[in-house]
Amino acid sequence: MAADDVTQLDAAMAERELARLAGILNRANDAYHREDAPILSDAEFDALRQRNAAIEARFPQLVRPDSASAFLGATPAEGFGKIRHARRMLSLSNAFTDEDVADFVAGIRRFLNLGPDSPLALTAEPKIDGLSLSLRYENGRLLHAATRGDGETGEDVTTNVRTMAEIPQTLTGAPAILEVRGEVYMSHADFAALNTRQSEAGGKIFANPRNAAAGSLRQLDPEITRARPLRFFAYAWGETSEPLADTQSGAIARLQDLGFPTNPLFRRCDTVDDLLATYSGIEAQRASLGYDIDGVVYKLDDLAYQDRLGLRSTTPRWAIAHKFPAELAWTLLEGIDIQVGRTGALSPVARLKPVTVGGVVVSNATLHNEDYIAGRDSRGGPIREGRDIRVGDWVQVYRAGDVIPKIRDVDLARRPDTAAPYQMPAHCPECGSPAIREPGDSVRRCTGGMICPAQAVERLKHFVSRAAFDIEGLGAKQVESFWRDGWIASPKDIFTLKDRFGPGQPRQLKNREGWGEKSAQNLFDAIEEKRRIPLARFIFALGIRHVGETSAGMLATHFGSWDAFRAAMHESNDPDSAAYAELISIDGVGPVMAQSLITSFAAEATEIDRLAALLSIQPAEARATDSPVAGKTVVFTGTLERMTRAEAKARAESLGAKVAGSVSAKTDLLIAGPGAGSKAKKATDLGIEVIDEDQWLALIGAG
Ligand code: IVH
Repeated sequence: MAADDVTQLDAAMAERELARLAGILNRANDAYHREDAPILSDAEFDALRQRNAAIEARFPQLVRPDSASAFLGATPAEGFGKIRHARRMLSLSNAFTDEDVADFVAGIRRFLNLGPDSPLALTAEPKIDGLSLSLRYENGRLLHAATRGDGETGEDVTTNVRTMAEIPQTLTGAPAILEVRGEVYMSHADFAALNTRQSEAGGKIFANPRNAAAGSLRQLDPEITRARPLRFFAYAWGETSEPLADTQSGAIARLQDLGFPTNPLFRRCDTVDDLLATYSGIEAQRASLGYDIDGVVYKLDDLAYQDRLGLRSTTPRWAIAHKFPAELAWTLLEGIDIQVGRTGALSPVARLKPVTVGGVVVSNATLHNEDYIAGRDSRGGPIREGRDIRVGDWVQVYRAGDVIPKIRDVDLARRPDTAAPYQMPAHCPECGSPAIREPGDSVRRCTGGMICPAQAVERLKHFVSRAAFDIEGLGAKQVESFWRDGWIASPKDIFTLKDRFGPGQPRQLKNREGWGEKSAQNLFDAIEEKRRIPLARFIFALGIRHVGETSAGMLATHFGSWDAFRAAMHESNDPDSAAYAELISIDGVGPVMAQSLITSFAAEATEIDRLAALLSIQPAEARATDSPVAGKTVVFTGTLERMTRAEAKARAESLGAKVAGSVSAKTDLLIAGPGAGSKAKKATDLGIEVIDEDQWLALIGAG
């Protein structure tokens, strides 16, 4: 069929054809660019690309995320250098209701010990739906620009940013070092015009302005970025050699004076009611702003207060995003598939008739678990007033922020007579092992363990994921294919891949379909590079149930080294041991996580040790080594008079101390306020140093 034949296609045919074209074009593109071994002639390639573009122009709602319509729009991320941010780029926690906002403000007051009548100003501004960018200026000149990446390291997009008219190249009167942060976005008008041009030229059609902005910024050819109108709002900063101002509003005014675009809807508010009124005002203007926003961000105005509140692992305590209600759409539930996750959980996934929700085509949604489908919550109470969900139903889909789409409701009036209640399978669909729901667990789990292919593969995918080993060139797709062929059965096999399939071996990676000399060597190098791995990442990579990125970070900071952590996990096996007591005294580690850690280490001791032996696991950095309390375990007891307990704890932790809840032989220092009781006595008995609040503040240089 020639490119212009697409008028004959119906939507279902178009969808299948786009899937087929994505497969061929992506493979051909890799073969051409990464292996220097084209599998299609230029003419064949162009014909397929044009056909793909023509179908996409007719069925824009079917454009696939992996569409290869224009490789202009599909720049490989490997093309960019990496930049380590001088200060982490943060994300925001979310509020969804007025009550969440009131709680946020009340929490700040509590933390700072401010009474209800003390003034407390906050700022409110739109949350721009684009991608965040950090601009580093030194001595008034733009030195580099980086995307957020994982928050610690982003991609170097300096050359492209230099083509953006709204971003100043030079500054007058700025601090010698200044990192300006903000959002890159594309206006609705520019987005529509870009898609028209793209479709005329047979190029990639973007699903929404945010994707268009991201695709345009992450271009290897800066001339393409120049031709795409990207805009910018500054709303935050990273490293600065001197403070910009005393307040958030002052700092934003300063950034504006320096020539950065700042959002005109930015307001300073004195009360929760003020914040909520600003929210409603911004929401009312949402449709006429001309660019996408997905909520309102509130920040504490006083920067000294911001400093006192500090950060959780990746979000500040002094800011929150108040999200707009999710966008909704009704569609047909065509089927329910079961996915088996890394911990064996059987997750029902809704297969939907594709529908656009908030600018994105949705064809899958999570159904959580069998109770959710049945219309019950985890305690047996009704959800959706007890309405269950059946295949063949019309269901209401919503997306809240970036998360996986969910199903909110079902239309019983449109239910076909043939629709039957959904039955969760009693066996794992992947390995056939019994799937069992333990009392107290909300999900049914496959009991196959590592004999279950799905669990094994999901664990491998988790292991190489971005927050874990993050090996360039070894993503979910590659892992799956290596696993299928028995090249990698468990994580440790990744680190012997070169010995088994490298140069000089009978079977070699470079001869595998889709690989070549160069890409194989690149992968071996990337694996080699990741043998050195920070402890926190390693713990997270193990994929232990209940141990997420934040907990892994806390465990790493607490134990410091792999040897100490490993020993503690084995020693904690006895619930009466000091090791167990220490483990559950760690902030954020409860009995459930502790048990999960202990069980995993007991069950997989050999596998974990073999893996660790192939690696160089880097000790966790003591967070602030120059502070006199770094690495010390401290306990607060009694009443603190000059700050709240929460602030004392956050401050101590930011100086590298560990804050424990109870006194033990490991305690280095007890800070006792008036009314201290048994803890102070125990500390004295154990010969632990006891000081009062003033002495503590003097010690940390805050007296
Ligand atoms: S402040 C201090 N302000 O939202 C924390 N972020 O969900 C830094 N965003 O990664 C963020 N508009 O990309 C802030 N007015 C605004 C924003 C905003 C959009 C984005 C930003 C951030 C994400 C967090």
